Amino acid sequence: GRLRLPGPARLGSSGAAVQRAPQAAGAEEAGEDAGISARKKTFTEVQTERLEQAEQTVLIKCPPKINEKKLLQYLSSHGNIKSHFFFENHGIHALVEFSEKNSIASLQDAIGIPSTAEHYVVPFKSRLFTFKLKNPVSQAAEETPVHLSPQSHIPVNELIQKLCCADSISTQMYILLNEYQLTEENIKLRFLACSLVRDFARAFFPDSTVKPFGSSVNTFGKLGCDVDMFLDFHDIQKHATMMKKGPFEMEYQMKRLPSERLATQKILSVIGDCLDNFGPGCSSVQKILHARCPLVKFSHQPTGFQCDLSVSNSIAIRSSELLYIYGCLDSRVRALVFSVRCWARVHGLTNSVPGTWITNFSLTMMVMFFLQKRSPPIIPTLNQLKELAGEKDKHVIGGYDCSFVSDLSKIKPTKNTETLDVLLGDFFEYFGNFDFRKNSINLRKGKEVNKPESSPLYIWNPFEQDLNISKNVNQPQLEKFVAMARESAWILQKEDKTQRKINKEPWGLAAILIPFGKSNPSKMKNRMKGIGSETIRSLLDSLKLNTANTVQKAAGK
Ligand code: GTP
Ligand code: MG
Repeated sequence: GRLRLPGPARLGSSGAAVQRAPQAAGAEEAGEDAGISARKKTFTEVQTERLEQAEQTVLIKCPPKINEKKLLQYLSSHGNIKSHFFFENHGIHALVEFSEKNSIASLQDAIGIPSTAEHYVVPFKSRLFTFKLKNPVSQAAEETPVHLSPQSHIPVNELIQKLCCADSISTQMYILLNEYQLTEENIKLRFLACSLVRDFARAFFPDSTVKPFGSSVNTFGKLGCDVDMFLDFHDIQKHATMMKKGPFEMEYQMKRLPSERLATQKILSVIGDCLDNFGPGCSSVQKILHARCPLVKFSHQPTGFQCDLSVSNSIAIRSSELLYIYGCLDSRVRALVFSVRCWARVHGLTNSVPGTWITNFSLTMMVMFFLQKRSPPIIPTLNQLKELAGEKDKHVIGGYDCSFVSDLSKIKPTKNTETLDVLLGDFFEYFGNFDFRKNSINLRKGKEVNKPESSPLYIWNPFEQDLNISKNVNQPQLEKFVAMARESAWILQKEDKTQRKINKEPWGLAAILIPFGKSNPSKMKNRMKGIGSETIRSLLDSLKLNTANTVQKAAGK
């Protein structure tokens, strides 16, 4: 198999056979191509390769009855096709990757600019095409159904049914991971969305690139999650430092602006307008320029993604790479994160809109911290990763040392062999009993540290050490998290698996993915007895808050 599992993961995880690791797979493939077979590719190498592939890719809208052979035959007259797949998104689409970039120009040049009476067309050549045959009848005769690559995960109730058939919690967790994680095809589509936005950005800034970050690339992305992308002028910066040597100074196609923030706002404003006016399939474009991190939100219909575009944020990229490293080190890491995230979503602890609840990002950091605290640890602390950093890994951003090792093979595999069954239960127990009033979570040290200020939940930003990534979380939300964690730990400890299986009741992971109030309200009440009435009141408040939000969302916010 090409889909090799990260080393230590193979120990004792019975469900490992169902694990699919798209990012890692990409890394290996790339390794062979570039002749770097001795080691896994680094985060940067994988990203660079995927971005290059995306530039050689087009998206084709197909008729409902599509003759695959004919489509490929037509396309191959423009160049060699490296890979392709079909997917459903308001009709069948094909993503087609050519071996060479100039095949796209050849395809574009073979098509005239459409002229229809009711539309005026702005002649900006895109990489979105429609495949129409003049004689669809004869085509239909030859057509065989194409395989459609799924771009969304199964609903939770279906998942729960699948989980009930597994033989251990560990297997259940790998089943969940397998159903929810991004597929190779979905990742290609995400990079294509970035690449299509880049085509627009380049109209203004010829050397810019648009790169994905966040869960699209950090190995913790779930099918259906948003695409976080940023505009990168990195190459320009490099160029600028080189120029300092000579006697010249250049006005680099830009006015001088008094602050980076103002520049960011202006850049995003014009690109937002451009996408809104001319971007094919870009709809609901929203410029959110006064946020702490200014961004443009839009829906990209051809790929079906909700996108957040911001301007290069080096710290966020380092966070993505750090999580990528943790996700690649041991297969238990991703399995645990996916289960905890799914659990949190089911119980309304996380939400797709921002608010006073815990974010997926914070939750992921809590899982990482828990894994650092195992004995022996399953993943290293950030300080340990910093000690392993080579000369090329040195990064200082805004005065903060953000260095850590990028070569995965330099990190010693863990000696920890605990099963996911144990880890899941212990995760809930650990945070169900964590002293949030006194302690904060510090991934750099892998230790609890006294809280520097009074935010209910304090998770140190790993790179900007004076910031709390969970500053938004209020006391009721934290207490709700603690109550749910305790309830889940209790269920996992107390349940009789064999009895539940005989009764055909959800057990293990499945049992904690059912909203507690619904399955057995009386039990929940008992467990809440230990918590003061003050807590219950704030808990109820937070529930109300959550409901209000859902209503707002349903109203089409
Ligand atoms: P999803 O919920 O699957 O989208 O996870 P995500 O990791 O992509 O989270 P999100 O889209 O909210 O944010 C994208 C990226 O921005 C994250 O991966 C982080 O790198 C960064 N980010 C998000 N929230 C915070 C925060 O509160 N503090 C800091 N420092 N970075 C954040
Ligand atoms: Mg995201």
